[in-house]
Amino acid sequence: MQRKVGIIGAGVSGLLVCKYALCKGFNPIVFESQSTIGGVWTKTLRTTKLQTPKPLYQFSDFPWPPSVTEDFPDKHKPFSPMGKWKLIVEDLNNHPTRADFVIICVGRFSGVPNIPEFPPNKGPEAFHGKVIHSMDYAAMEDAKAVEFIKGKRVLVVGFQKSALDMAMECSTANGMENPCTVLYRTAHWNLPDYLPWGFSLAHMECIQPRIPQLAAVIGYSKSVANLYTSEIRCRWLVELLDGTFKLPSIEEMEKDVKECEDYLKQYSGVNYKRKCIGALHVWYKDQLCKDTGWSPRRRKTLFAELFVPYGPLDYVQ
Ligand SMILES: Cc1cc2nc3c(=O)[nH]c(=O)nc-3n(C[C@H](O)[C@H](O)[C@H](O)COP(=O)(O)OP(=O)(O)OC[C@H]3O[C@@H](n4cnc5c(N)ncnc54)[C@H](O)[C@@H]3O)c2cc1C
Ligand SMILES: NC(=O)c1ccc[n+]([C@@H]2O[C@H](COP(=O)([O-])OP(=O)(O)OC[C@H]3O[C@@H](n4cnc5c(N)ncnc54)[C@H](OP(=O)(O)O)[C@@H]3O)[C@@H](O)[C@H]2O)c1
Repeated sequence: MQRKVGIIGAGVSGLLVCKYALCKGFNPIVFESQSTIGGVWTKTLRTTKLQTPKPLYQFSDFPWPPSVTEDFPDKHKPFSPMGKWKLIVEDLNNHPTRADFVIICVGRFSGVPNIPEFPPNKGPEAFHGKVIHSMDYAAMEDAKAVEFIKGKRVLVVGFQKSALDMAMECSTANGMENPCTVLYRTAHWNLPDYLPWGFSLAHMECIQPRIPQLAAVIGYSKSVANLYTSEIRCRWLVELLDGTFKLPSIEEMEKDVKECEDYLKQYSGVNYKRKCIGALHVWYKDQLCKDTGWSPRRRKTLFAELFVPYGPLDYVQ
């Protein structure tokens, strides 16, 4: 009988797991709380572009079409005029379903906005202007969003990518005459530094050593190119479910998790607060290849192996 795989979330991670589960002959069912697929990419600012270079942010068998020439395209660029998803939509309200294995792909950046707790009467009510979270702003239609900030004096709180994108939105809408102000508590070096943040809680960042037979998480830890990492990780996971290889013992997995955590702590110092495999990118993908029996060396020539960076298209087969 076909094994049923429950997948929670239909962002790029959930869609990838679904695709690779189908390829292996499993029976996947995807649960999505929103009315659209694509996760964070369905609600981005008008001016948001990829921050990962395009070659690193594409599906291995579904690359950007040649018509997209920018290195960092925005959301208006289609992935391919030739490709179409085949979607089967079912409303499962009040119909419980059973699955042999559950894969959690709920992402880290969609859903509930992170709004700080304020002391009594010192929150948004003390300020007489409008307060809005960048997620709610991103959910507005583009034209309405521009109208919303047009001509206003805007204060942006935060100094990471969303905050800088918001500042860009304001400067695009309001120009030099009406500049916005960015208020932040921590200065960040806002160029990609590829330092890892945080630590690994799970074997290969997706299997909890103590419940390996039941569930996995895809897409929670960060990397330098999240789609790329999620895709290779999905392929590793479906090979595991298909019995291509077996997991190490719980003790070995926990030892491995601890070693990885120690390494990341040592490497990332004060930035030790987020899960990211930045510095381990190449090692991590090699490890996934070795488990599945694929060669980690994917290049035809030694020159390319040594000097050309790896990307998703190297793993198409
Ligand atoms: C504006 C923005 C730009 C980004 N740019 C880049 C970039 O350039 N490069 C890069 O590598 N990364 C980037 N990221 C990180 C991005 O999060 C990942 O690249 C990737 O898209 C995450 O996909 P995901 O499927 O893991 O999660 P998500 O896209 O967050 O998808 C999770 C899905 O799960 C659903 N869900 C959540 N809870 C439930 C539930 N309980 N039941 C059912 N469904 C649920 C959500 O509705 C959502 O559709 C960006 C993130 C943001 C917010
Ligand atoms: N491709 C793109 O262009 C793009 C666009 C947007 C987002 N993204 C991605 O999406 C992810 C989320 O990015 P993000 O910028 O939304 O979130 P983030 O990286 O978590 O940054 C949140 C910012 O808000 C600040 N902040 C949080 N709580 C605060 C508080 N109580 N008081 C003051 N400041 C507070 C943080 O300050 P501290 O640093 O002090 O905590 C930080 O500057 C990242 O992976 C990012 O790369 C990508």
